[in-house]
Amino acid sequence: MSFAGRVALITGAGRGIGREVALKFAAEGADVAVADLTLEAAEDVAAEIRAMGVKSLALKVDVSSPEDALKMVTDTVEGLGKIDILVNNAGITKDKLMLRMEESDWDCVMSVNLKGAFNCTKAAARVMAKARYGRVINIASIVGLTGNAGQANYSASKAGLIGLTKTTAREFASRSITCNAVAPGFIDTAMTQAMPEKSRQALTAQIPLARLGSSDDVAEGVIFLASDKASYITGHVLSINGGMYM
Ligand code: NAI
Repeated sequence: MSFAGRVALITGAGRGIGREVALKFAAEGADVAVADLTLEAAEDVAAEIRAMGVKSLALKVDVSSPEDALKMVTDTVEGLGKIDILVNNAGITKDKLMLRMEESDWDCVMSVNLKGAFNCTKAAARVMAKARYGRVINIASIVGLTGNAGQANYSASKAGLIGLTKTTAREFASRSITCNAVAPGFIDTAMTQAMPEKSRQALTAQIPLARLGSSDDVAEGVIFLASDKASYITGHVLSINGGMYM
């Protein structure tokens, strides 16, 4: 198994894409820290992972808090010994057309999606830099590349995450830490299930591969970027979007 002996820390892993990523790392032999705002969801995923024969910790974290992010990293190192892989997956939406978007809608999305990734990367990179090994993978979005009406806050946070990815890649390359982003298109999770059926159908019509993506499609990309096969790839944005944007 390609990740035996590795420790992966995944934020927002209580459900959706993060959960799938956590389960896939475990299936490949990694020990996994499952961090989420909702502790019960994290505990359920951690129990599933332990049943697969590897170690797992459930951690409650609000990634927008630097103190929480630091505690999450400290608890992971105490519980699992180290951190080889960090996946900044926690993310939220608060969609509105710009003229109706409140300052609080903007601040809230930026503080989870962008500041959250900064907080967690800063805390985990200290540990990785000492070990002279690390893989940081940020879950961005297609709309960080294209923009999207109704998502000024979300698309700006994801475009910002791409800038953060490239800076992290540059700052930590000398410590053998790579940092890459995955930019999913529209993926079938609770986030997109909240959309009206008509909008989902209209979206699908714009996707050359003619279906929404699955969490598994995204997790496969994350696993690749964290693997030894990707050791010379850093600062890259991997689109996983069925050809919707190319
Ligand atoms: P989801 O809403 O199903 O899951 C997000 C998870 O993050 C939840 O378990 C939630 O409790 C957790 N979370 C939210 N705020 C948090 C915080 N402050 N601290 C810690 N955990 C927090 O979302 P989904 O669809 O699985 O998305 C995961 C990531 O993928 C997000 O960053 C999202 O922006 C991104 N993405 C999703 C796409 C989609 O179509 N579903 C497309 C492109 C990107």
